[in-house]
Amino acid sequence: MTGTRTRASYHSDCHICHGPNGEGSSYAPALANLLKTLSYSDFVNVVTNGRKNVDAANGKVMPSFAANVT
Ligand code: HEC
Repeated sequence: MTGTRTRASYHSDCHICHGPNGEGSSYAPALANLLKTLSYSDFVNVVTNGRKNVDAANGKVMPSFAANVT
């Protein structure tokens, strides 16, 4: 199950940017309450494909974890 593996690897893969308890950081948004507003399929899509929000004001890059979750 990809969901189980994503959770199991949270502390090694995600907390660097999203904070130790998923509360976010100055760089990446909080994840702890995210599933209240984001559907599970959207969540999986962002995590497997990554997302870039790069323009003059932002240099935010959510990396793709496709290799980790499949
Ligand atoms: C290199 C830093 C970094 C790592 C590591 C990282 N993320 Fe992210 N993540 C980001 C950034 C930056 C964004 C915001 C992208 C944007 O603004 O579009 C983001 C966005 C997200 C979003 C979408 C949030 C929203 O509001 O729609 C989800 C879900 C997410 N990350 C989950 C994860 C998970 C799960 C992991 C571990 C497998 C992870 N991230 C690891 C930097 C990171």
